[in-house]
Amino acid sequence: MFSRTFTAKRLPLLFFTPKVIPSEPLLFEALFSTHIVGDKPILVRDFIHSALYDAKHGYFSQRSGSVGVLEKSIKFNQLEGRKAYMKYLDDIYKRSDIAWFTPVELFKPWYAHGIAEAILRTTNLSVPLKIYEIGGGSGACAKGIMDYIMLNGPDRVYNNMTYISVEISPSLAEIQRETVGEVRSHLSKFRVECRDAADRSGWGDVEQQPCWVIMLEVLDNLPHDLLYSENQVSPWMEVWVEKQRDRETLSELYKPLQDSLIRRCIEIIDLDKNPSNQSSAIKMARSIWSKVLPKPQRCWLPTGCLKLLEVLHEVLPKMSLIASDFSYLPDVKIPGERAPLVSTKKDGSSLDYGSYLDAKGDADIFFPTDFWLLESMDHYSSGWLKLHKDKSSKQGKKRRTITLDTSSFMEEFGVPSKTRTKDGYNPLLDDFKNTKFYLSVPTHNTK
Ligand SMILES: C[S@@+](CC[C@H](N)C(=O)[O-])C[C@H]1O[C@@H](n2cnc3c(N)ncnc32)[C@H](O)[C@@H]1O
Repeated sequence: MFSRTFTAKRLPLLFFTPKVIPSEPLLFEALFSTHIVGDKPILVRDFIHSALYDAKHGYFSQRSGSVGVLEKSIKFNQLEGRKAYMKYLDDIYKRSDIAWFTPVELFKPWYAHGIAEAILRTTNLSVPLKIYEIGGGSGACAKGIMDYIMLNGPDRVYNNMTYISVEISPSLAEIQRETVGEVRSHLSKFRVECRDAADRSGWGDVEQQPCWVIMLEVLDNLPHDLLYSENQVSPWMEVWVEKQRDRETLSELYKPLQDSLIRRCIEIIDLDKNPSNQSSAIKMARSIWSKVLPKPQRCWLPTGCLKLLEVLHEVLPKMSLIASDFSYLPDVKIPGERAPLVSTKKDGSSLDYGSYLDAKGDADIFFPTDFWLLESMDHYSSGWLKLHKDKSSKQGKKRRTITLDTSSFMEEFGVPSKTRTKDGYNPLLDDFKNTKFYLSVPTHNTK
């Protein structure tokens, strides 16, 4: 069963149904939202990027609230069952101003230990272990992985390892340093680079060594673009955001497709299937239908993820990738395929905005991940999948990839007994039905 109440971000909602805030702009909202947009219109992905990561007002730039930190690990074995677990969480959420806890935090240290075990079992241990984590949040993953390797890996692997966190938020970067610094010996192996991982210029030279890249619940917060079509047969247009004459209200502007990142994404999805290939009967039916019952279409594109994968494959050609994220989000009010939830927390309860334009730095904007598309984008970015229009001689590199339910991943690599309550209920295995793990490793020379 899929339910928003079963996601980490959504657990408080078991007790309180989220209210949907209508999309009329409030005064404060308007002030920040319209501040993002200058005199010229901007693409939706740039609007989302500012709403989440603006250095001053962005959701992830504020020190508290965006990524929750549990004071101590939950002792699942001491809880009776589901009811006791929910009550425990409800108390924590009520006491804190935290919007939500991610799985790596809720199930610390066991979630990170599962990932560390997957790395130790799969990696070539004769090469010094190098791990990059993108968007490490509170640092729970970094600390959990380093602890596990220190205690369970060969000494030389721990002694020679490096763990580099690439974190866009200065406040979270600081928290990560504090978390990992709790174990002194980790410090010489760990560093945080505070930058946007999708910006090629921050990476320096191409690194030919094999390495790991970990991204937990990062894809859902990467900027997306939006396409709009007037009806079932009109061509897709790119959506831009602009200020109205009153300089306080934001509105959408539709332009013919021109952005190259959007175009590449469309081709990978195969959205622009050539209508001339359709039979004339189908074309006629669609055309009549669009006149009788015209229905505007909207489609969200994970252009931020595509950009990040392109950069990662360019700078780390021998990377192995582990990503986990939501495969599905319930009760999404915003229209369009792969549409996001725009969610904030006020007085202990969650509130969803009815429009992404209302996000103003206190709201999380998160998208479901289409894992089929993620795999295609990964193969495209590695050079293996060629687009129809791609005439380049870029050498393709095949990768071995697999998408697993969180429960399958944790049963294989984790310690499920540690997250089991007394009556056998196991929130990590039983509740995370709408999250998945994606693993992708190079098949070419990894020495
Ligand atoms: C939802 S939080 C997840 C945190 C952590 N991985 C976890 O699971 O608890 C998303 C994280 O990604 C970071 N982030 C988002 N976009 C990023 C980018 N382009 N480069 C580096 N970090 C990014 C955010 O600041 C935040 O730390």
